[in-house]
Amino acid sequence: MSNQGVNKRRRQFLTAATSVVGAAGVVGVAVPFVASWNPSAKARAAGAPVKADISKLEPGQMIVVEWRGKPVYVVRRTEESLASLANQKLLGVLRDPQSEESLQPGYVDAAQRSIRPEYLVLVGLCTHLGCAPKYRPDVGAADLGGDDWLGGFFCPCHGSKFDLAGRVFQGVPAPTNLEVPPHSYEGDKVLVIGVDQETA
Ligand code: FES
Repeated sequence: MSNQGVNKRRRQFLTAATSVVGAAGVVGVAVPFVASWNPSAKARAAGAPVKADISKLEPGQMIVVEWRGKPVYVVRRTEESLASLANQKLLGVLRDPQSEESLQPGYVDAAQRSIRPEYLVLVGLCTHLGCAPKYRPDVGAADLGGDDWLGGFFCPCHGSKFDLAGRVFQGVPAPTNLEVPPHSYEGDKVLVIGVDQETA
C-alpha cells in the first residue's frame, strides 16, 4: 500500500468528516484521525476490520479511526474519569446507566462499557440524528453544567450530552447511549475494530 494511497483515502475521509461537522455549524476538530494498517477503501466499506496503534495514546487523549465509513472514537480514560463513572449524582441523571437498551457487545462491561477499563471505544455518531459529538473531557465546563460536568461528549446539533462511557443524559434528544462497536485487542498496543473479542 503506497503512502500516496493512504493519504488520498485519509483526505477523502477528512473531507467527509468535515462535512458532517460543518453541517453542525461547528469548527475545529482537535483530535487526530488515524489511518494505519487499514485495508482498501472497498474492503473497508464492506465492513473489513481496521487496526489502530494505541501505544502512543496518552491518558485523557482521544483519536478517531474510520471503520465502515463511520468515525470511531478511541479514548484513553484517566483514573479520575474512570472513578467518575460511578459518581452517584451522575448515575442519577443518566437515562440508561447500565446500558440495558443501548447497542454494545455482550462482552463489554455494562457500566464502563469497555473491555479494558482504560480504553473507551465508541461509534462517534449521536444516537439522535447522527451528528458527531464533541469530546469534552474538561471537568466543570461552565457551558455543560459547571461543577456537575465530569467530562464526556456533547452533541452540538441539538444538545445531547453523554458521559465518559458514552452514556446518555436524561432530558436530551438522543434516546440511547453511544454505540460500542465490536472490537478486540492484539497484545497491548493494537486495537482491532470490527472483530469481536473471543469469549470463553
Ligand atoms: S444529532 Fe445529536 S442531539 Fe440531535
